[in-house]
Amino acid sequence: MPLDIIVLAAGQGKRMRSRLPKVLHPLAGRPLLAHVLQSAQALKPRKIVVVHGHGAERVRAAFTEANVEWVLQEEQLGTGHAVQQALPHVSPDADVLILYGDVPLVSSSTLQRLARAGVEGVAVLTAELGDPAGYGRIVRDRSGRVARIAEQKDGSPQELMIREINAGFMAMSARRLSGWLGRLTNRNAQKEYYLTDVVSLAVAEGIPVNAVKVDDAREVAGVNSKRELAELERRYQAMQAQRLLDAGVTLADPARIDVRGELACGQDVAIDVNCVFEGRVSLGDGVRVGPNCVLRNCAIAADTEVLAFSHLEDSEVGARCRLGPYARLRPGTFLAEDVHVGNFVEVKASRIGKGSKANHLTYIGDAEVGSGVNVGAGTITCNYDGAAKHRTIIEDDCFIGSDATLVAPLRIARGSYIGAGSTINKDTPAGQLTVARARQVSIPSWKPPKKKV
Ligand code: UD1
Ligand code: CA
Repeated sequence: MPLDIIVLAAGQGKRMRSRLPKVLHPLAGRPLLAHVLQSAQALKPRKIVVVHGHGAERVRAAFTEANVEWVLQEEQLGTGHAVQQALPHVSPDADVLILYGDVPLVSSSTLQRLARAGVEGVAVLTAELGDPAGYGRIVRDRSGRVARIAEQKDGSPQELMIREINAGFMAMSARRLSGWLGRLTNRNAQKEYYLTDVVSLAVAEGIPVNAVKVDDAREVAGVNSKRELAELERRYQAMQAQRLLDAGVTLADPARIDVRGELACGQDVAIDVNCVFEGRVSLGDGVRVGPNCVLRNCAIAADTEVLAFSHLEDSEVGARCRLGPYARLRPGTFLAEDVHVGNFVEVKASRIGKGSKANHLTYIGDAEVGSGVNVGAGTITCNYDGAAKHRTIIEDDCFIGSDATLVAPLRIARGSYIGAGSTINKDTPAGQLTVARARQVSIPSWKPPKKKV
């Protein structure tokens, strides 16, 4: 039978104390709901139906690319009511898996287990918690079979002692689900239609209810508050750090790295403390990243060294380069091999050829820099005239003296030397020294001014 997945994501998340709908709060740089959808997608379902309500437009806008069907639950009358809204989108012959948009760390292998267990009857995902407060409890009969789920606000004192909790995820056939949903009532402490009541309805019909227990309770942890979100973030980051260590990456401190996306590392990569990796980052063999660096959507080739406090974004860096400390690569930067970009050097939308160096206090924007070029300290490409951006071309083997101001559009021909402190606003000829600054004079007859007494 085909598998259809329903994700509940209509709740406001009052305890987040935020205007942002709960499922949009980021975990490791991506909305909570994105994590759930990724695990769901791994099961290759026929379709995914997302029930949304609170902040509906914002939620949809954040997932325009996602291959899901949106169902609006205008009033949040409970989890059972939410699933009911999705039911018309689910085919009657499907197996259904119900997930929550605010439980982000569930693995797809656990979901697979749950879906399989649901084929027989009803499957509920459970976990044993030290502190079960807040969750629905799994009530079993004398012979240990699941009898019903008691919600925190409805349970008897004995029931609330139970430590096996309902994670919220369930699996069963669409046909059975639709029969039971029609019989839910809201006669309970919260006046809500509880999805969890399908369990006792199943038991009454003699349909088996399977509890699928997870070994690691962290998989089923939901996010209801900023405190829980922060805890999950640390857990998630710890998991990523372990994965990197297992793959042979050296981490100065596994508790001080944040990966908000995908980080691919070659062999013998070393990462110092407090680095943040965002989007897709790849580090080639032998790459070293110093402390306090931020790398977003970058590919760094083998044996390059990124020194402390560097910030790299949407850039490609060749092999054996040396960046920083305090280097900034902005989007559209391409560095060939053996390039040095030193402290307080900013590069934007530019290519820099093999072996070229800009070691100190420089801005290179919208430029094409050849190979073997030396850019002196304080050099600036003046790429913007207040209306448009212009390009600067510096051909191979040029030497740009310190504090040069290069007014684009401009071509510095091969082997040019530019005198320090020059303002260059015309193309320069190849192989010549070009100086554009006032001549130095000394005045022998000059006397220092004297104070009048
Ligand atoms: C629910 C379960 C509880 C379980 C817990 C696990 C019920 C009645 N209780 O309780 O047994 O231990 O989850 O986290 O199901 N939602 C909607 N529409 C609604 C209500 C909720 O879409 O009308 C969504 C929420 O956005 C959320 C999920 O369903 O993603 C769970 O809702 P929530 O109110 O957090 O349920 P709990 O009270 O935590
Ligand atoms: Ca919840």
